[in-house]
Amino acid sequence: MSTDPFALFDAWYREARETEPNDSNAMALATVSADLQPSVRMVLLKGHGPDGFVFYTNRESRKAQDLHPGARVALLFHWKSLRRQIRIEGSVALASDAESDAYFATRARDSQLGAWASDQSQPLDARATFEARYEEMRARFEGGDVPRPPHWGGYRVTPARIEFWQDRAHRLHERRLFVRTPGGWAEGLLYP
Ligand SMILES: Cc1cc2nc3c(=O)[nH]c(=O)nc-3n(C[C@H](O)[C@H](O)[C@H](O)COP(=O)(O)O)c2cc1C
Repeated sequence: MSTDPFALFDAWYREARETEPNDSNAMALATVSADLQPSVRMVLLKGHGPDGFVFYTNRESRKAQDLHPGARVALLFHWKSLRRQIRIEGSVALASDAESDAYFATRARDSQLGAWASDQSQPLDARATFEARYEEMRARFEGGDVPRPPHWGGYRVTPARIEFWQDRAHRLHERRLFVRTPGGWAEGLLYP
């Protein structure tokens, strides 16, 4: 049996990309605040490989307060129609400016302007204020490329544990747990 969790992740992710009707790259991101309050929200996986799992967000958002370098986080993928879940625990680091710039440049112009317009997690008096700010940014960058806002960028989660859960008949589900050790990944099977 392979002890490379990334090969197994690739195989399951590829299948999900092909079969899930919506947001197959959506994952729950759980963080913990300085006063130990957990919180969870969905984000989109935008890059992955043996060096980790990358998502992008506003670096002044509520979640960003919890995402200081080295902070512990958890990710969860759930693909309902495949009846599979992947659970990841690890620590987080900022993605590089070059990596964040490169990804930002691939975004639709609307999304690029939205990143400038949004003070994520900050209360707004009215939706109209948000829309006015979007129009302001549209005018500001008219006729040129939209640069990455300084408050927006990527984070990479380096996994320490990855658990693959597969639905099986009679609720005898199967869990394969991979744990990072100094010598590489170790694997164990768990039962429900
Ligand atoms: C399917 C889905 C995907 C999302 N993807 C992202 C994302 O990639 N980045 C992001 O900042 N917010 C994303 N959001 C919005 C977040 O869930 C969240 O509302 C927002 O980031 C603010 O979270 P915070 O207040 O904990 O910082 C997504 C929401 C959904 C439902």
